[in-house]
Amino acid sequence: MKNVGLVGWRGMVGSVLMQRMIEERDFDVIRPVFFSTSQHGQAAPEFAGKSAGKLQDAFDIDALKALDIIITCQGGDYTSEVYPKLRASGWQGFWIDAASTLRMKDDAIIILDPVNHHVIGNGLDKGIKTFVGGNCTVSLMLMSLGGLFANDLVEWASVATYQAASGGGARHMRELLSQMGMLHGHVASELNNPSSAILDIERKVTELSRAGALPVDNFGVPLAGSLIPWIDKQLENGQSREEWKGQAETNKILQPAQTIPVDGLCVRVGALRCHSQAFTLKLKKDVPLAEIEQLLAAHNDWVKVVPNDREITMRELTPAAVTGTLSTPVGRLRKLNMGPDYLSAFTVGDQLLWGAAEPLRRMLRLLVD
Ligand code: HSE
Repeated sequence: MKNVGLVGWRGMVGSVLMQRMIEERDFDVIRPVFFSTSQHGQAAPEFAGKSAGKLQDAFDIDALKALDIIITCQGGDYTSEVYPKLRASGWQGFWIDAASTLRMKDDAIIILDPVNHHVIGNGLDKGIKTFVGGNCTVSLMLMSLGGLFANDLVEWASVATYQAASGGGARHMRELLSQMGMLHGHVASELNNPSSAILDIERKVTELSRAGALPVDNFGVPLAGSLIPWIDKQLENGQSREEWKGQAETNKILQPAQTIPVDGLCVRVGALRCHSQAFTLKLKKDVPLAEIEQLLAAHNDWVKVVPNDREITMRELTPAAVTGTLSTPVGRLRKLNMGPDYLSAFTVGDQLLWGAAEPLRRMLRLLVD
């Protein structure tokens, strides 16, 4: 059995990862060693009924060196500090990481095995030892639209995202819900009175939102009742860093013969943990819609084609419906007025599952099974 170090298992992504590893009985096939950046020496958790002794120090290079595989959800700062030291020490083990720090390195592969199993396999054959989960919007796009990319049908993709608070982190989710609660509390009595004027209610809500009274330490501005059309850092070319990742990571994951242009606008909305995305796809040729639906549905076990029907779409293609599941539905499929090569699509996916934790544990299984 391989010795597998787990770092950052207590955080939000790490907790989802532990949950999935328990569900899939991953702990049955590894010898887990739990690490902590602050509480080493305390008892390790007993996931799946397995005692794992004491928490080890996540900064102890000698302890890390004893492992065959390390999975970290501890974040980019941890990776930046520990990974170079560990590799410099001569460690030859497998590093599986949720953070973006190492994603674009030549000797790292972005893992999303239902989409790029062949790339991962080639990498393993070549001796690659560093595997990094992709950006959540990119991974979720490829899980939903994989059938089009796998059949080399996409000339370019333009996207508008509707990204959930969880993409920012646990504190962001709390902040959003606190903002929602404050806005509601501010007008709760008027809402209970059916004869109150809605524009008076809206004015009170807007005033509170603008008064600087809502908690905004994490988002910087109110998100509840609003949206934020910027995610991550500002780049010199006018893109946000999140928008930049679309093309860079898609092409690194797929490794197509020619770069596929992907660009768009990334927007934070008040969803909790599902990212949604609206696509305009330029296809390389005019493929009948029924064939497109077949290719999409056949690509992997998690994608689901939602018929372009109002009732079904409202029921099945929303964050509320998809949250907490591994389903990556795609719907609103239709040819656009621009011509028969232009396809519209809307995708939804849980940002913490396929968008973060799931590719990591599946990479682990590829290494230990
Ligand atoms: N950067 C993403 C977001 C999450 O802010 O929604 C991580 O991939």
